[in-house]
Amino acid sequence: MSGEKAIEVAILGCGKMGQNILRTLQNSSRVRAITVFDRNLEHMEELKATFGVKSAPALEDVLQDPAIKLVFVTASNNAHRELTVAALEAGKAVMCEKPMATTIPDAQAMVEAAERTNGFLQIGFELRYSHLYTTVKDWIARGLLGRVLNTQCTYCSSAWGRHDVWRVASKTSGGMFGEKLSHYVDLVRWWIGDEVEEVYATCAPNVIPYYEVHDNYHCSYRFKNGAVSHLTFMMGPAASFKGDPLQNAVSQQTGDGHVLRYMIYGEKGAAETDVFQRTIKRWEFGEDDYGQTSKWIQNETWDPENDFAYFHNTHDQALDIVRRVAEGECPSINPRDALETTQLCFAAELSAAEKRPVRLDELK
Ligand SMILES: NC(=O)c1ccc[n+]([C@@H]2O[C@H](COP(=O)([O-])OP(=O)(O)OC[C@H]3O[C@@H](n4cnc5c(N)ncnc54)[C@H](O)[C@@H]3O)[C@@H](O)[C@H]2O)c1
Repeated sequence: MSGEKAIEVAILGCGKMGQNILRTLQNSSRVRAITVFDRNLEHMEELKATFGVKSAPALEDVLQDPAIKLVFVTASNNAHRELTVAALEAGKAVMCEKPMATTIPDAQAMVEAAERTNGFLQIGFELRYSHLYTTVKDWIARGLLGRVLNTQCTYCSSAWGRHDVWRVASKTSGGMFGEKLSHYVDLVRWWIGDEVEEVYATCAPNVIPYYEVHDNYHCSYRFKNGAVSHLTFMMGPAASFKGDPLQNAVSQQTGDGHVLRYMIYGEKGAAETDVFQRTIKRWEFGEDDYGQTSKWIQNETWDPENDFAYFHNTHDQALDIVRRVAEGECPSINPRDALETTQLCFAAELSAAEKRPVRLDELK
């Protein structure tokens, strides 16, 4: 669209996620130029050659370039703090992938850097842009479910590749909860709109022997307003999947043991989302002479070509962040809100390790 403000951006970390964002940004009229930086020169040169973008020999070259207004931090988790804080201090707006960081002090330092510099920091919780889950948010906001009291999420996923070393080591990933499950507790926090008070997580011994992080959890958490949520997760039982989970995963994984389903119960009605069945449903509660009634109100599905928009909508998230920075707007997710999700993840890890309920205020 003519008259739109365009900006220069940089991508710090040029692996799978960096490439994913690069593909989106290349087609945006709001992005004037893209610079890539990776400590692995091969990755950086590959991106430079494939996409014809600029590359920076050192991080300082990005930080000291006044034309670059926004950086996407898509490096592995243990580099998030260093890259985010340096970029904020150099006056750049930052989109940093989830999980925020591999420790709570690192995540807190990132939020403090954003506040100290009055900078822009948005964490990559793209499920808040997913049509599947924004529909639930909309139903809740319109009062169609009433006060949400109980949510359940069942998630079964195939394993990451054996060689994906940083993800499976606690120190570099920060744990399975942050790396994989932060999305699924963040959504519930967003829907319910209240603070989590206490979490209790348990794990069985791993099915995947070479993972240092846990590959399974049952996790319950209670909100201050009395609502409760449960997440049950298992990695491994689904048939092996070797594609790019951010591309066409839904078609490739349907019917092979993958499950990703939420039940969301309110006082007035309920909703169900099912990624692999491609369904979203809503029903309303009532009462008659017999007792409580419930009635189907909505039962929708979507076409496979819309999987991206309905599920991991990194595309709209990246474009929205560019637009917000170009227009001088705030992040759509406040960094303190993202920090609360991060604290919930670490509380769940601590609960599983110490085999006891953990109050969130223990970690603040
Ligand atoms: N939102 C989502 O659904 C989603 C999905 C996949 C990955 N991610 C996140 O994206 C990030 C990257 O994941 P990935 O799958 O692309 O990993 P990857 O291993 O494919 O790529 C990571 C890249 O970061 C580079 N890197 C590491 N430390 C660096 C540093 N200090 N400076 C510059 N570059 C550095 C590595 O050399 C590598 O090229 C992770 O934080 C991950 O959690 C998010």
